[in-house]
Amino acid sequence: MRVTLEKFIINGSRPLKGVVDISGAKNSAAAILPASLVLDGPCRIENVPDILDVTILKKIMTKLGAVVRNEGRNTLYIDPTGVNSCIASYRMVNRLRASYYLIGALLAKKGKAVVSYPGGCNFGFRPIDQHIKGFEAMGANVSIEQGLIKASTSELRGAQIYLDVVSVGATINLMIAATKARGVTVIENAAKEPHVVDVANFLNAMGADIRGAGTDVIKIRGVEKLPGGATHMVIPDMVEAGTFMIAAAATCGDVVVRNIIPKHMDSLTAKLIEMGVEIMENGDWIRVLGTRNLKRANIKTLPYPGFPTDLHPQIATLLCLARGTSTITESIWDLRFQYVDELKRMGANIKVEGRMAVIEGIPKFSGAPVKATDLRAGAALVIAGLAAEGTTEVIDISYIDRGYEDFEIKLRSLGADITRVEE
Ligand code: EPU
Repeated sequence: MRVTLEKFIINGSRPLKGVVDISGAKNSAAAILPASLVLDGPCRIENVPDILDVTILKKIMTKLGAVVRNEGRNTLYIDPTGVNSCIASYRMVNRLRASYYLIGALLAKKGKAVVSYPGGCNFGFRPIDQHIKGFEAMGANVSIEQGLIKASTSELRGAQIYLDVVSVGATINLMIAATKARGVTVIENAAKEPHVVDVANFLNAMGADIRGAGTDVIKIRGVEKLPGGATHMVIPDMVEAGTFMIAAAATCGDVVVRNIIPKHMDSLTAKLIEMGVEIMENGDWIRVLGTRNLKRANIKTLPYPGFPTDLHPQIATLLCLARGTSTITESIWDLRFQYVDELKRMGANIKVEGRMAVIEGIPKFSGAPVKATDLRAGAALVIAGLAAEGTTEVIDISYIDRGYEDFEIKLRSLGADITRVEE
Protein backbone atom coordinates (compact mmCIF):
# COMPACT_ATOMS: atom_id res chain seq x y z
CA MET A 1 0.00 0.00 0.00
CA ARG A 2 1.41 3.38 -0.96
CA VAL A 3 1.29 6.09 1.63
CA THR A 4 1.79 9.62 0.29
CA LEU A 5 4.18 11.83 2.19
CA GLU A 6 2.12 14.48 3.86
CA LYS A 7 2.62 17.06 6.57
CA PHE A 8 0.51 19.25 8.80
CA ILE A 9 0.87 23.01 8.77
CA ILE A 10 -0.44 24.59 11.93
CA ASN A 11 -0.87 28.26 12.74
CA GLY A 12 -1.01 28.23 16.51
CA SER A 13 -2.22 30.24 19.46
CA ARG A 14 -5.93 29.70 18.88
CA PRO A 15 -7.96 28.28 21.77
CA LEU A 16 -9.87 25.14 20.80
CA LYS A 17 -13.58 25.55 21.36
CA GLY A 18 -16.59 23.33 20.74
CA VAL A 19 -17.60 19.67 20.85
CA VAL A 20 -15.63 16.73 19.49
CA ASP A 21 -16.84 13.15 19.08
CA ILE A 22 -14.35 10.41 19.85
CA SER A 23 -13.95 7.38 17.56
CA GLY A 24 -13.65 3.70 18.42
CA ALA A 25 -10.50 2.56 20.21
CA LYS A 26 -7.52 1.75 18.00
CA ASN A 27 -6.08 -0.77 20.42
CA SER A 28 -9.42 -2.56 20.79
CA ALA A 29 -9.95 -2.74 17.05
CA ALA A 30 -6.35 -3.90 16.56
CA ALA A 31 -7.20 -6.93 18.70
CA ILE A 32 -10.87 -7.56 17.91
CA LEU A 33 -10.33 -7.77 14.16
CA PRO A 34 -7.71 -10.56 14.39
CA ALA A 35 -9.75 -12.18 17.20
CA SER A 36 -12.70 -12.47 14.83
CA LEU A 37 -10.69 -14.96 12.75
CA VAL A 38 -11.30 -17.55 15.49
CA LEU A 39 -15.05 -17.52 14.97
CA ASP A 40 -16.98 -20.25 13.19
CA GLY A 41 -19.48 -17.83 11.74
CA PRO A 42 -19.72 -14.20 10.66
CA CYS A 43 -19.93 -11.19 12.95
CA ARG A 44 -20.48 -7.47 12.73
CA ILE A 45 -18.26 -4.93 14.44
CA GLU A 46 -19.41 -1.34 14.87
CA ASN A 47 -17.51 1.83 15.80
CA VAL A 48 -14.33 0.59 14.09
CA PRO A 49 -12.03 3.59 13.63
CA ASP A 50 -11.13 4.38 10.03
CA ILE A 51 -7.37 4.50 10.58
CA LEU A 52 -4.34 3.16 8.75
CA ASP A 53 -3.77 0.25 11.19
CA VAL A 54 -7.32 -1.00 10.52
CA THR A 55 -6.89 -0.67 6.74
CA ILE A 56 -3.75 -2.81 6.94
CA LEU A 57 -5.45 -5.40 9.15
CA LYS A 58 -8.43 -5.70 6.79
CA LYS A 59 -6.03 -6.45 3.92
CA ILE A 60 -4.17 -9.10 5.92
CA MET A 61 -7.40 -10.80 6.98
CA THR A 62 -8.67 -10.82 3.42
CA LYS A 63 -5.40 -12.39 2.25
CA LEU A 64 -5.83 -15.11 4.88
CA GLY A 65 -9.21 -15.97 3.32
CA ALA A 66 -11.69 -14.02 5.45
CA VAL A 67 -14.45 -11.93 3.94
CA VAL A 68 -14.14 -8.40 5.33
CA ARG A 69 -16.68 -5.91 4.12
CA ASN A 70 -17.41 -2.35 5.15
CA GLU A 71 -21.05 -1.53 5.83
CA GLY A 72 -20.66 2.19 6.05
CA ARG A 73 -17.44 3.81 7.18
CA ASN A 74 -17.19 2.38 10.70
CA THR A 75 -19.01 -0.96 10.57
CA LEU A 76 -17.35 -4.15 9.42
CA TYR A 77 -18.96 -7.43 8.44
CA ILE A 78 -16.44 -10.22 8.87
CA ASP A 79 -16.90 -13.81 7.80
CA PRO A 80 -13.83 -15.87 8.78
CA THR A 81 -15.22 -19.26 7.72
CA GLY A 82 -13.13 -19.27 4.54
CA VAL A 83 -9.77 -18.69 6.28
CA ASN A 84 -7.47 -21.11 4.49
CA SER A 85 -3.99 -19.82 5.27
CA CYS A 86 -2.06 -19.56 8.50
CA ILE A 87 0.84 -17.61 7.06
CA ALA A 88 1.25 -13.86 7.50
CA SER A 89 4.48 -12.98 5.76
CA TYR A 90 6.82 -10.05 6.38
CA ARG A 91 5.40 -8.27 3.33
CA MET A 92 1.92 -8.55 4.83
CA VAL A 93 2.62 -7.50 8.40
CA ASN A 94 5.70 -5.30 8.34
CA ARG A 95 3.66 -2.13 8.70
CA LEU A 96 1.54 -3.48 11.53
CA ARG A 97 2.83 -3.38 15.10
CA ALA A 98 0.25 -5.71 16.57
CA SER A 99 0.72 -8.59 14.13
CA TYR A 100 1.18 -10.88 17.13
CA TYR A 101 -2.59 -11.21 17.62
CA LEU A 102 -2.67 -13.23 14.42
CA ILE A 103 -0.66 -15.94 16.20
CA GLY A 104 -3.24 -16.51 18.95
CA ALA A 105 -6.12 -16.36 16.49
CA LEU A 106 -4.63 -18.70 13.86
CA LEU A 107 -3.33 -21.12 16.46
CA ALA A 108 -6.81 -21.44 17.95
CA LYS A 109 -8.46 -21.69 14.54
CA LYS A 110 -6.00 -23.80 12.54
CA GLY A 111 -3.58 -25.24 15.08
CA LYS A 112 -0.81 -23.48 13.21
CA ALA A 113 0.48 -19.96 12.69
CA VAL A 114 3.47 -18.60 10.83
CA VAL A 115 3.60 -14.87 11.43
CA SER A 116 6.45 -12.52 10.70
CA TYR A 117 7.85 -10.42 13.48
CA PRO A 118 6.79 -6.89 12.59
CA GLY A 119 9.49 -4.77 10.96
CA GLY A 120 11.67 -2.36 12.98
CA CYS A 121 9.27 -0.80 15.41
CA ASN A 122 9.55 2.80 16.45
CA PHE A 123 9.91 1.67 20.07
CA GLY A 124 12.73 -0.69 19.11
CA PHE A 125 12.35 -4.41 19.64
CA ARG A 126 9.09 -5.41 21.25
CA PRO A 127 9.50 -8.60 23.26
CA ILE A 128 6.78 -11.26 23.02
CA ASP A 129 8.30 -13.77 25.43
CA GLN A 130 5.16 -13.71 27.61
CA HIS A 131 2.95 -14.54 24.63
CA ILE A 132 5.24 -17.43 23.72
CA LYS A 133 5.44 -18.68 27.32
CA GLY A 134 1.64 -18.81 27.40
CA PHE A 135 1.25 -20.57 24.04
CA GLU A 136 3.81 -23.17 25.13
CA ALA A 137 2.01 -23.71 28.43
CA MET A 138 -1.10 -24.39 26.36
CA GLY A 139 0.70 -27.11 24.42
CA ALA A 140 2.01 -25.28 21.35
CA ASN A 141 5.50 -25.63 19.92
CA VAL A 142 6.88 -22.19 19.17
CA SER A 143 10.10 -21.30 17.38
CA ILE A 144 11.51 -18.16 15.81
CA GLU A 145 13.23 -18.78 12.51
CA GLN A 146 14.38 -16.19 9.99
CA GLY A 147 12.18 -13.51 11.45
CA LEU A 148 9.12 -15.75 11.47
CA ILE A 149 7.30 -16.86 14.59
CA LYS A 150 6.18 -20.43 13.96
CA ALA A 151 3.63 -21.94 16.29
CA SER A 152 1.84 -25.26 15.97
CA THR A 153 -0.13 -27.67 18.07
CA SER A 154 -2.25 -30.77 17.65
CA GLU A 155 -4.54 -29.42 20.36
CA LEU A 156 -4.44 -26.39 22.63
CA ARG A 157 -5.24 -27.23 26.25
CA GLY A 158 -6.12 -25.03 29.18
CA ALA A 159 -3.22 -23.92 31.38
CA GLN A 160 -2.35 -21.81 34.40
CA ILE A 161 -0.26 -18.87 33.16
CA TYR A 162 1.36 -16.23 35.36
CA LEU A 163 2.56 -13.23 33.36
CA ASP A 164 5.96 -11.93 34.54
CA VAL A 165 5.10 -8.44 33.27
CA VAL A 166 1.67 -6.87 32.93
CA SER A 167 1.27 -7.07 29.17
CA VAL A 168 -1.84 -5.98 27.29
CA GLY A 169 -0.74 -7.86 24.18
CA ALA A 170 0.04 -11.14 25.98
CA THR A 171 -3.18 -11.00 28.02
CA ILE A 172 -5.34 -10.53 24.93
CA ASN A 173 -3.41 -12.96 22.75
CA LEU A 174 -3.62 -15.76 25.31
CA MET A 175 -7.28 -15.00 25.90
CA ILE A 176 -7.96 -15.36 22.16
CA ALA A 177 -6.00 -18.64 21.94
CA ALA A 178 -7.70 -20.05 25.06
CA THR A 179 -11.26 -19.55 23.76
CA LYS A 180 -11.08 -22.90 21.98
CA ALA A 181 -8.52 -24.74 24.12
CA ARG A 182 -9.62 -27.91 25.88
CA GLY A 183 -10.34 -27.09 29.54
CA VAL A 184 -9.80 -23.96 31.57
CA THR A 185 -7.03 -21.38 31.13
CA VAL A 186 -6.21 -19.00 33.96
CA ILE A 187 -4.16 -15.88 33.20
CA GLU A 188 -2.72 -14.31 36.34
CA ASN A 189 -1.19 -10.84 36.61
CA ALA A 190 -3.33 -10.00 33.58
CA ALA A 191 -3.56 -6.49 32.13
CA LYS A 192 -6.74 -4.63 33.15
CA GLU A 193 -6.98 -2.09 30.29
CA PRO A 194 -10.50 -1.29 29.04
CA HIS A 195 -9.65 -2.86 25.70
CA VAL A 196 -8.86 -6.20 27.39
CA VAL A 197 -12.44 -6.09 28.68
CA ASP A 198 -13.69 -5.04 25.25
CA VAL A 199 -12.04 -8.01 23.52
CA ALA A 200 -13.46 -10.36 26.20
CA ASN A 201 -16.95 -8.89 25.71
CA PHE A 202 -16.60 -9.32 21.95
CA LEU A 203 -15.54 -12.96 22.26
CA ASN A 204 -18.24 -13.71 24.86
CA ALA A 205 -20.90 -12.20 22.60
CA MET A 206 -19.69 -14.64 19.92
CA GLY A 207 -19.97 -17.68 22.20
CA ALA A 208 -16.79 -17.71 24.32
CA ASP A 209 -16.71 -18.22 28.09
CA ILE A 210 -14.34 -15.63 29.56
CA ARG A 211 -14.64 -14.32 33.12
CA GLY A 212 -12.67 -11.80 35.11
CA ALA A 213 -11.50 -9.50 32.30
CA GLY A 214 -10.75 -6.12 33.90
CA THR A 215 -9.27 -7.82 36.99
CA ASP A 216 -5.81 -9.36 37.22
CA VAL A 217 -7.10 -12.95 37.02
CA ILE A 218 -8.92 -14.01 33.86
CA LYS A 219 -10.48 -17.46 33.47
CA ILE A 220 -11.31 -18.83 30.06
CA ARG A 221 -13.26 -22.06 29.66
CA GLY A 222 -12.60 -23.38 26.18
CA VAL A 223 -15.59 -24.07 23.94
CA GLU A 224 -15.77 -26.30 20.89
CA LYS A 225 -17.38 -23.76 18.63
CA LEU A 226 -17.66 -19.99 18.54
CA PRO A 227 -20.77 -19.51 16.43
CA GLY A 228 -20.47 -15.72 16.07
CA GLY A 229 -23.57 -14.16 14.59
CA ALA A 230 -23.60 -11.17 16.94
CA THR A 231 -22.83 -7.47 16.65
CA HIS A 232 -20.24 -5.81 18.87
CA MET A 233 -19.53 -2.12 19.32
CA VAL A 234 -15.91 -1.11 19.92
CA ILE A 235 -15.40 1.08 23.02
CA PRO A 236 -14.37 4.73 22.63
CA ASP A 237 -10.67 5.47 22.28
CA MET A 238 -9.39 6.71 25.63
CA VAL A 239 -6.09 7.85 24.09
CA GLU A 240 -7.80 9.90 21.39
CA ALA A 241 -10.09 11.37 24.07
CA GLY A 242 -7.09 12.17 26.26
CA THR A 243 -5.27 13.77 23.34
CA PHE A 244 -8.18 16.16 22.74
CA MET A 245 -8.52 16.89 26.46
CA ILE A 246 -4.85 17.83 26.64
CA ALA A 247 -5.07 19.87 23.42
CA ALA A 248 -7.97 21.82 24.95
CA ALA A 249 -5.93 22.52 28.09
CA ALA A 250 -2.77 23.43 26.14
CA THR A 251 -4.59 26.01 24.02
CA CYS A 252 -6.49 27.41 26.99
CA GLY A 253 -9.65 26.32 25.25
CA ASP A 254 -13.11 25.08 26.20
CA VAL A 255 -13.89 21.69 24.68
CA VAL A 256 -16.51 19.02 25.31
CA VAL A 257 -15.03 15.62 24.50
CA ARG A 258 -18.04 13.46 23.74
CA ASN A 259 -18.91 9.81 23.15
CA ILE A 260 -16.47 8.56 25.77
CA ILE A 261 -16.49 6.57 29.00
CA PRO A 262 -15.36 9.24 31.52
CA LYS A 263 -14.28 6.55 34.03
CA HIS A 264 -11.55 5.43 31.58
CA MET A 265 -10.13 8.95 31.78
CA ASP A 266 -9.78 9.10 35.60
CA SER A 267 -5.96 9.10 35.74
CA LEU A 268 -5.75 11.95 33.22
CA THR A 269 -8.67 13.90 34.69
CA ALA A 270 -7.05 13.77 38.15
CA LYS A 271 -3.75 15.15 36.77
CA LEU A 272 -5.46 17.91 34.80
CA ILE A 273 -7.36 19.00 37.91
CA GLU A 274 -4.09 18.94 39.88
CA MET A 275 -2.63 21.23 37.21
CA GLY A 276 -5.46 23.73 37.64
CA VAL A 277 -7.57 22.76 34.62
CA GLU A 278 -11.32 22.85 35.18
CA ILE A 279 -13.12 19.61 34.37
CA MET A 280 -16.81 18.81 34.25
CA GLU A 281 -18.14 15.40 33.37
CA ASN A 282 -21.42 13.65 32.94
CA GLY A 283 -22.77 10.59 31.14
CA ASP A 284 -20.63 10.21 28.03
CA TRP A 285 -18.72 13.50 28.00
CA ILE A 286 -16.02 15.52 29.72
CA ARG A 287 -15.69 19.30 29.37
CA VAL A 288 -12.20 20.77 29.67
CA LEU A 289 -11.70 24.46 30.44
CA GLY A 290 -8.08 25.55 30.17
CA THR A 291 -6.24 28.01 32.39
CA ARG A 292 -3.27 30.31 31.81
CA ASN A 293 -1.96 29.40 35.26
CA LEU A 294 -1.05 25.77 34.79
CA LYS A 295 0.57 24.21 37.86
CA ARG A 296 3.49 21.82 37.74
CA ALA A 297 2.98 18.09 38.34
CA ASN A 298 4.83 14.80 38.59
CA ILE A 299 3.56 11.88 36.56
CA LYS A 300 4.50 8.23 36.24
CA THR A 301 3.14 6.00 33.49
CA LEU A 302 1.75 2.68 34.67
CA PRO A 303 -0.52 -0.09 33.41
CA TYR A 304 -4.26 0.72 33.70
CA PRO A 305 -5.71 2.19 35.88
CA GLY A 306 -2.44 4.14 36.15
CA PHE A 307 -1.51 7.00 33.84
CA PRO A 308 -1.25 5.56 30.29
CA THR A 309 2.08 5.56 28.47
CA ASP A 310 0.15 6.39 25.29
CA LEU A 311 -0.61 9.84 26.75
CA HIS A 312 2.94 10.47 27.95
CA PRO A 313 4.19 12.70 25.07
CA GLN A 314 0.93 14.66 25.01
CA ILE A 315 0.89 15.41 28.76
CA ALA A 316 4.62 16.22 28.62
CA THR A 317 3.72 18.94 26.12
CA LEU A 318 1.23 20.38 28.58
CA LEU A 319 3.75 20.17 31.45
CA CYS A 320 6.09 22.33 29.32
CA LEU A 321 3.52 25.12 29.65
CA ALA A 322 3.14 24.79 33.44
CA ARG A 323 4.95 27.05 35.90
CA GLY A 324 7.93 25.41 37.65
CA THR A 325 9.61 22.03 37.33
CA SER A 326 7.61 18.93 36.46
CA THR A 327 8.71 15.34 35.95
CA ILE A 328 7.38 12.44 33.96
CA THR A 329 8.66 8.93 34.56
CA GLU A 330 8.15 6.28 31.89
CA SER A 331 7.80 2.71 33.07
CA ILE A 332 6.59 0.91 29.94
CA TRP A 333 8.60 1.90 26.82
CA ASP A 334 12.31 2.85 26.93
CA LEU A 335 12.09 4.70 23.63
CA ARG A 336 9.09 6.84 24.58
CA PHE A 337 11.23 9.98 24.85
CA GLN A 338 11.73 10.50 21.12
CA TYR A 339 9.43 13.52 21.20
CA VAL A 340 11.81 15.42 23.47
CA ASP A 341 14.31 16.59 20.84
CA GLU A 342 11.47 17.72 18.59
CA LEU A 343 9.74 19.69 21.36
CA LYS A 344 13.09 21.31 22.16
CA ARG A 345 13.09 22.71 18.63
CA MET A 346 9.93 24.54 19.66
CA GLY A 347 11.54 25.99 22.76
CA ALA A 348 10.86 23.28 25.37
CA ASN A 349 13.28 22.92 28.25
CA ILE A 350 13.43 19.19 28.95
CA LYS A 351 16.23 16.97 30.25
CA VAL A 352 15.96 13.23 30.11
CA GLU A 353 17.62 11.41 33.02
CA GLY A 354 17.26 7.67 32.59
CA ARG A 355 13.54 6.96 32.52
CA MET A 356 12.57 10.42 33.73
CA ALA A 357 12.05 13.67 31.83
CA VAL A 358 12.60 16.79 33.91
CA ILE A 359 10.59 19.62 32.41
CA GLU A 360 11.12 23.32 33.20
CA GLY A 361 8.06 25.33 32.29
CA ILE A 362 8.23 27.91 29.48
CA PRO A 363 5.69 30.67 28.75
CA LYS A 364 5.04 29.56 25.16
CA PHE A 365 6.21 27.23 22.36
CA SER A 366 7.46 28.85 19.18
CA GLY A 367 6.42 27.32 15.85
CA ALA A 368 9.09 25.24 14.06
CA PRO A 369 9.47 22.40 11.55
CA VAL A 370 9.32 19.12 13.49
CA LYS A 371 9.05 15.43 12.77
CA ALA A 372 6.56 12.88 14.13
CA THR A 373 8.80 10.09 15.38
CA ASP A 374 5.91 7.82 16.39
CA LEU A 375 2.14 7.96 16.72
CA ARG A 376 1.81 9.60 20.14
CA ALA A 377 4.89 11.80 19.68
CA GLY A 378 3.21 13.05 16.50
CA ALA A 379 0.03 13.90 18.40
CA ALA A 380 2.09 15.72 21.03
CA LEU A 381 3.80 17.84 18.37
CA VAL A 382 0.44 18.79 16.90
CA ILE A 383 -0.69 19.89 20.38
CA ALA A 384 2.49 21.95 20.76
CA GLY A 385 1.88 23.48 17.33
CA LEU A 386 -1.70 24.41 18.26
CA ALA A 387 -0.46 26.17 21.38
CA ALA A 388 2.61 27.77 19.77
CA GLU A 389 3.29 31.27 18.60
CA GLY A 390 3.70 31.16 14.81
CA THR A 391 3.66 28.31 12.30
CA THR A 392 4.59 24.69 12.94
CA GLU A 393 5.13 22.04 10.27
CA VAL A 394 4.83 18.44 11.39
CA ILE A 395 6.27 15.94 8.90
CA ASP A 396 5.95 12.13 8.77
CA ILE A 397 2.29 12.29 9.74
CA SER A 398 1.54 8.79 8.46
CA TYR A 399 2.39 7.79 12.05
CA ILE A 400 -0.53 9.94 13.21
CA ASP A 401 -2.83 8.46 10.56
CA ARG A 402 -2.12 5.00 11.99
CA GLY A 403 -4.12 5.84 15.08
CA TYR A 404 -6.26 8.99 14.80
CA GLU A 405 -9.39 9.11 12.63
CA ASP A 406 -9.87 12.52 10.95
CA PHE A 407 -7.42 14.15 13.35
CA GLU A 408 -7.05 17.47 11.57
CA ILE A 409 -10.73 17.56 10.54
CA LYS A 410 -11.80 17.21 14.16
CA LEU A 411 -9.28 19.84 15.25
CA ARG A 412 -10.48 22.24 12.55
CA SER A 413 -14.06 21.79 13.77
CA LEU A 414 -12.78 23.12 17.12
CA GLY A 415 -11.33 26.21 15.47
CA ALA A 416 -7.75 25.06 14.86
CA ASP A 417 -5.86 26.36 11.85
CA ILE A 418 -4.35 23.09 10.63
CA THR A 419 -4.02 21.84 7.07
CA ARG A 420 -2.68 18.67 5.50
CA VAL A 421 -0.44 19.20 2.50
CA GLU A 422 1.65 16.89 0.35
CA GLU A 423 5.34 17.18 1.02
N1 EPU B 1 6.61 -7.03 27.47
C1 EPU B 1 7.50 -8.04 27.69
N2 EPU B 1 7.23 -9.27 27.16
C2 EPU B 1 6.11 -9.52 26.43
C3 EPU B 1 5.21 -8.49 26.20
C4 EPU B 1 5.47 -7.24 26.73
O1 EPU B 1 8.53 -7.85 28.35
O2 EPU B 1 5.93 -10.67 26.00
C5 EPU B 1 6.85 -5.69 28.04
C6 EPU B 1 7.03 -4.61 26.97
O3 EPU B 1 8.35 -4.52 26.54
C7 EPU B 1 6.56 -3.37 27.69
C8 EPU B 1 5.49 -3.90 28.67
O4 EPU B 1 5.70 -5.30 28.76
O5 EPU B 1 7.60 -2.84 28.46
C9 EPU B 1 4.05 -3.67 28.23
O6 EPU B 1 3.86 -4.13 26.89
P1 EPU B 1 2.43 -4.55 26.35
O7 EPU B 1 2.51 -5.97 25.91
O8 EPU B 1 1.40 -4.17 27.35
O9 EPU B 1 2.29 -3.63 25.07
P2 EPU B 1 1.63 -4.02 23.70
O10 EPU B 1 0.45 -4.89 23.94
O11 EPU B 1 2.67 -4.49 22.76
C10 EPU B 1 -0.15 -2.12 23.63
C11 EPU B 1 -0.49 -0.98 22.72
C12 EPU B 1 0.54 0.12 22.86
C13 EPU B 1 0.61 0.55 24.32
C14 EPU B 1 0.91 -0.64 25.23
C15 EPU B 1 0.89 -0.31 26.71
C16 EPU B 1 -1.57 -2.10 20.89
C17 EPU B 1 -1.57 -2.44 19.48
N3 EPU B 1 -0.53 -1.45 21.36
O12 EPU B 1 1.12 -2.61 23.19
O13 EPU B 1 0.03 1.18 22.08
O14 EPU B 1 1.64 1.51 24.48
O15 EPU B 1 -0.09 -1.67 24.99
O16 EPU B 1 -0.35 0.16 27.08
O17 EPU B 1 -2.52 -2.40 21.59
C18 EPU B 1 0.09 3.15 20.85
O18 EPU B 1 -1.12 3.02 20.70
O19 EPU B 1 0.71 4.19 20.56
C19 EPU B 1 0.84 2.03 21.40
C20 EPU B 1 2.16 1.93 21.30
